[in-house]
Amino acid sequence: VEIVPLESYENIMNQSMPDSPFPFFLGLNWKLNPNTIKDLEILLTNYVDHHREIAIDNDGIETVVFPPVIYLQQVYAQLGTHPAFHLGAQDLSPHDKGSFTGQVSPASLNDFEVRYSLIGHSELREFKKHSPEDRIARVKASADHQIQPVMCIGHVSTKDKDIHEVDIQILLDDVDRVITATPQQPRFIVAYEPVWAIGSGKPASIEHITEIFSTIHEHVLSTHGQDTVNRLQLVYGGSVNDQNCQELLTIPRLSGFLIGGASLKPLQIANIYKTIISS
Ligand code: PGA
Repeated sequence: VEIVPLESYENIMNQSMPDSPFPFFLGLNWKLNPNTIKDLEILLTNYVDHHREIAIDNDGIETVVFPPVIYLQQVYAQLGTHPAFHLGAQDLSPHDKGSFTGQVSPASLNDFEVRYSLIGHSELREFKKHSPEDRIARVKASADHQIQPVMCIGHVSTKDKDIHEVDIQILLDDVDRVITATPQQPRFIVAYEPVWAIGSGKPASIEHITEIFSTIHEHVLSTHGQDTVNRLQLVYGGSVNDQNCQELLTIPRLSGFLIGGASLKPLQIANIYKTIISS
């Protein structure tokens, strides 16, 4: 598969983005943080304080918190009822119930109003060895329970920035699998998170993300058609913060961020939120 050359997208770069049918996705992946109730309470209080003003004006942005699952109840109690926030799960079981030690049923997540799930985050692909089949089983279970899957894609195998040119097929295969597994889904959220950018303090370049997004878009259009590409929402993740988000927002077809480190700093998230609204 060939990367779509950046030059062909000069025109797109110069145009304002066509209106996306979906709200901007602002995913806040807390990972294994906080790790005590005391720290959780401090974080939640901070979130509520910093989001007081923007909660009134949350049109067009969907803020989704992905907390450690053990704190879902507390987060639901404080943020889940707040108009600016939705809840997400960092992972979910492909099974409803039974002998699956350590897993979390999508049915239980429904009880806490969890509306989104991260599928195959790179840390799960690396540490839990989630295979393409494991991920697709989760996509299906999630969709079956009206939990919107957020498919995370990116290369785990390397931290070499140039390898994307030969590995693009891996990304496209992941996108194809989601579309084929749940063809009726009204929305396909795909989060491109290059592993070398996650937690590094430096996001991928505008050019790199533009190329990847354009390549995915063209592939979905030519393979699955216009109706499917209309349902595709492309999100970027990897060291997004309040200093670099403005520039990242210029990327054509970008319609969301998945944020790790900065999501533990509610002031940063409030700044990012305001930047998205005003751009
Ligand atoms: P980061 O994490 O924002 O800390 O780079 C992103 C992610 O892992 O989803």
